[in-house]
Amino acid sequence: MHQGRTTLSKFLIQQLKGSPEQSDLAALLVDIAACIKAISAMTSKGMLGDVLGSLDSTNVQGETQKKLDVLSNVAFINTFSMGGLVAGLASEEVDDPQEIDPQDGSGRFLAIFDPLDGSSNIDVNVSVGSIFSILRAPDGRAPTVDDYLRPGSEQLAAGYAIYGPATMMVITVGKGTHGFTLDREVGNFILTHPHIEVPADTSEFAINASNERFWEPPIQRYVAECKAGKNDVRARDFNMRWIASMVAEVHRILMRGGVFMYPRDMKDPSKAGRLRLMYEANPMTMVVEQAGGLGSTGRSRILDISPDEIHQRVPVILGSRNEVERIERYHRDYDSGADQRYTSPLFQERSLFAN
Ligand code: AHG
Ligand code: MN
Ligand code: MN
Repeated sequence: MHQGRTTLSKFLIQQLKGSPEQSDLAALLVDIAACIKAISAMTSKGMLGDVLGSLDSTNVQGETQKKLDVLSNVAFINTFSMGGLVAGLASEEVDDPQEIDPQDGSGRFLAIFDPLDGSSNIDVNVSVGSIFSILRAPDGRAPTVDDYLRPGSEQLAAGYAIYGPATMMVITVGKGTHGFTLDREVGNFILTHPHIEVPADTSEFAINASNERFWEPPIQRYVAECKAGKNDVRARDFNMRWIASMVAEVHRILMRGGVFMYPRDMKDPSKAGRLRLMYEANPMTMVVEQAGGLGSTGRSRILDISPDEIHQRVPVILGSRNEVERIERYHRDYDSGADQRYTSPLFQERSLFAN
């Protein structure tokens, strides 16, 4: 009955052959899959597992840590520390990058991750996920912070796990985006979604609409037009979704199209956005772009950004190609003065949004 099923390991051996770096990358992704199985087991226990609720601690961004944030972080750190393939790691839940003790000097990679994404959903039993990004480590020396601060276009691999009704792992090594479903009884990830393609057009958008009054005019314009529906410029009706877990949102978009937005806003002008470039925006953009979608800040391609710091935030507009391009056009129209509409008094000071 299980004949002909492609396991993650078999798939990776096929996709990553040819060089020692490629086979090490395959081994690393298998290690990450094992970690994801462990986190999946923890999250699925719910109230029975003593894993819910918050701790007294906060992370570097001042967010209260959930028990599962910390447990998932430890699971990833143990995986990378013991696997011998990673020279250093950076995490949402760790202030500064950590060097991994070189056991045999062969750690070729840097691992950057959000161990548990959407953690406000944990206590209410709604989907959460994990996100990871893999960069090349420097050759023959210990990594410095600058070695992590590479544009997303240099990622060797990226992916996420979603702990939903089924646990899935969606990955790319730069050769398309592929989805695997965890067969819990057997303990294997099975290739169930080869060559995922994000439809170029969509009638579905995802944004936290409670921030509407803080958005910039181009985002206000886009959402207003979607909401105006079939009798307005878009000539069709749109649906809106908001799960408050980027992983779950992006997963839906990979499965059936859509556009996800966490744009720059004026809620806290000191922050460039809500989401973090290195362990949320970059890996999720690589996954989406390898599936034919696009990732943008509204003004530039996410994967081209040269990071300044590990925990840097960035505006994110991600998903179906034609919608992302439309939103980029609305930003250009606004910045060039071509579009005078949607200019609320809040946004008169253009300089607040310079760059
Ligand atoms: P995390 O749980 O890792 O801190 O990330 C949560 C992020 C992201 O997944 C989600 O899209 C967004 O925060 C939700 O923000 P709101 O609470 O503003 O909706
Ligand atoms: Mn997150
Ligand atoms: Mn997180």
